[in-house]
Amino acid sequence: MTILDGKKVSNDIKDEIAAEVAAMRERGEKVPHLAAVIVGEDGASLTYVGSKVRACKRIGFESTLKQLPESTTEEELLELVGQLNADPEIDGYIVQLPLPRHIDEQKILMAVDPDKDVDGFHPTNFGKMALELETFISATPFGIIELLKRYEVETSGKHTVVIGRSHIVGRPISILMSQKGAAGNSTVTLAHSRTQNLEELCRQADIIVSALGVPNFVKADMVKDGAVIIDVGITRVPDASRERGYYICGDVDFEGVKDKASFITPVPGGVGPMTIAMLLKNTLLARQRKA
Ligand code: GUN
Repeated sequence: MTILDGKKVSNDIKDEIAAEVAAMRERGEKVPHLAAVIVGEDGASLTYVGSKVRACKRIGFESTLKQLPESTTEEELLELVGQLNADPEIDGYIVQLPLPRHIDEQKILMAVDPDKDVDGFHPTNFGKMALELETFISATPFGIIELLKRYEVETSGKHTVVIGRSHIVGRPISILMSQKGAAGNSTVTLAHSRTQNLEELCRQADIIVSALGVPNFVKADMVKDGAVIIDVGITRVPDASRERGYYICGDVDFEGVKDKASFITPVPGGVGPMTIAMLLKNTLLARQRKA
């Protein structure tokens, strides 16, 4: 069994980007500048955005954090999005999800300039991804593809079962893995809450990508011997005995499944760190496209 070490691979990618940025600086060029917008006080979102901004600093990007109160109106957020679209200093930006319930998420994402949409959430970019055109691919699915590529995991002709049809993970990874090319050419089944016989379906899978957000959902008896297991779940499970008051749990019962798997991502340290690395990669691309 091989652990797909997202922490190591993401550090490799960050080193590669840092070298590129150092060369840009040396040539007197502008370095990439990422902005992140966060609305409200959601603990997990604050952690993610903090990690993104810290990663920017580490690799030599400029970064800007726009932190807005929970009470921010949709109009105010649209105003900020307009400013970021117009700001020539900002190469790319993200609006951290989820947004407070009184704000229409889709309306905000539609307002982001597709050329600055390093999350790849705008319909133009999602559409280009689906059509295999040059675009920003969303960080989490992009990270999964990159991890599979770097470990040379065979996906061609394999049956992949994706669990979860979210717009930011399940749906795009199901499209990407069915496309041609490395980490593609897979026969993909996209399973979701209405899927019948999910356990049986999983037992038929050569590759399982679980993006459900239910701790320990995928158990050993749902996994075929030699399967590849990609765990996208990051759930905070309350636990008073821990210093932070919670621990991070994936969708996969790692201890039970690991001995049956050929490749498996740990949580934490699997897909999560890859997401940040690929966001940085998209921001570098945004800068290079402008140059
Ligand atoms: N919330 C969970 N994942 C993501 C992500 O990749 N980007 C943004 N903007 N919000 C998220």
